[in-house]
Amino acid sequence: MSEPKVNGLRGAELAVYDLAASVDFYTSNWALTEVSRHGDRAYLRGTGAEHHVITLHERPKAGLVAVNMAAQDRAAVEGLHAKARGMGVEIVSGPTALDAEGGGGYGFELRTPEGHLIRISSDVATHADAIDDPTRPVRANHVVLNSPDIDNQMQFFLDTLGFQFSDFSGHMHFIRCSRNHHSIAIAKSQGAGLNHIAFEMKDYDGLMRGVGRMRMADEEPGWGVGRHAGPGRNIFSYFVDPNGFAIEYTTDVDQAGDDYVSRREDYWQNVPMRPCAWAGAKMVPSPRMRAAMEGKLIEERNRSCDDVISERMAG
Ligand SMILES: [Fe+2]
Repeated sequence: MSEPKVNGLRGAELAVYDLAASVDFYTSNWALTEVSRHGDRAYLRGTGAEHHVITLHERPKAGLVAVNMAAQDRAAVEGLHAKARGMGVEIVSGPTALDAEGGGGYGFELRTPEGHLIRISSDVATHADAIDDPTRPVRANHVVLNSPDIDNQMQFFLDTLGFQFSDFSGHMHFIRCSRNHHSIAIAKSQGAGLNHIAFEMKDYDGLMRGVGRMRMADEEPGWGVGRHAGPGRNIFSYFVDPNGFAIEYTTDVDQAGDDYVSRREDYWQNVPMRPCAWAGAKMVPSPRMRAAMEGKLIEERNRSCDDVISERMAG
């Protein structure tokens, strides 16, 4: 049997301060669709077949709860589980049958060396009624994690989950588990956390209409609309959600076959500033956008009054 591997990104789970307000933002403005709500959590889908692309959990502190990934079938889930356990990776639960409210299926949970919860599943229910609306997100395209040790964190995904290396920009490792250029990227940072989640739009016109819908709701992009001159060369438009998470509408991400030529910073940092790249490298995130990507907006809001008072008293 070939090496077991993850073969797709399903989405992510976020802890949010106010479930109702966050569901309202992600359905009305971001244009996902609520699938179901159970107590303190809500499942939201895109226009594609995936059961849900984001799960929102109401918690006192915001943060990344989990990254959800797909495996081909039950045998692949069990193979990945056995491999991870054999490598000494922390297994949190499973493999086991999963809750019906999240689409069921079969899966297990592990923790990365930096403490991120990864849920890997197969046989999750899908939607037969794909929604025909290019202005709304189709699926989760990629999750970018911040890391103080990007080499070690990337190696975990390559060795344990079967990811392939796509590119290194000098700031970020881009890795793939399908033809999509990167389903995970790992960005240099002082701390471990979520940098951003990207939601895929069908095409450029759909993305621009999505951006237009956000603008009509008084939500301006904090970076973009632009096209990355770096790895993936995707069209992007980044926003900050009501909690302080960075989220992206993206489209036209490079697709990488077996013949894909990986490159490193010596290439990507010298890509000529061609007009066809929309001078992407000249555009920079707003200070607020950058703070969101570094996890600082969430970090600051999570610090309770008690934390501040005790720090001041200690100082
Ligand atoms: Fe992105």
